[in-house]
Amino acid sequence: MTDQLVLLLSGPNLNLLGDREPDVYGSATLDDHVAVARETAQAHGLTVEHVQSNHEGELIDAIHGARANAAAIVINPGAFTHSSWAIHDALAAFDGPIVELHLSNPDGREAWRRTSVVAPVATGSISGFGGDGYRLALDAVAALLA
Ligand code: DQA
Repeated sequence: MTDQLVLLLSGPNLNLLGDREPDVYGSATLDDHVAVARETAQAHGLTVEHVQSNHEGELIDAIHGARANAAAIVINPGAFTHSSWAIHDALAAFDGPIVELHLSNPDGREAWRRTSVVAPVATGSISGFGGDGYRLALDAVAALLA
C-alpha cells in the first residue's frame, strides 16, 4: 500500500525562519522543521509534501490540489491566520483532518494575533511549542487518520 500523503503548508515569512525574530521563532530553519515533519510522518507510514508561499493564492491552490491527493493538511498560515477568509473557505472545502500549527503562541502575543480565522475549520490547533510542534502535528495527524 502506498503511504498516505499529508500536505504541510507554510505561509508568508516562514521562509525566513532561523533569521527572522529568533527570540520569538527560534533559530531552526524551515528546512529543519520540514525534516522533523518528514521523519515523524515516515514513522507513521505517512509522506509529507511541503509547500511554502508568501502568496495567498498559491496557498489556496495547494489546498485545492490536496482535495485530490492528500489525506490531511498541516498548515502554519503565518499572518494569514488572522485575516484570510479565502484560506478559511479553501480549508472548509477539504474533507480530511486539518491541523493548524504555530511555533509561537499567538494568544499570548499582540491582540490582533488572538483571532484565528483558520481555527473554526481546523480539526485542532498546536501552538507555542516551537519546533516541537511539527512532531506533535504529525503525531496528531497520524492518530486522526488511524
Ligand atoms: C506564526 C504566528 C503568526 O501570528 C505570525 O504572523 C507568523 C508565525 C507562528 O508560527 O507562530 O508568521 O504563525
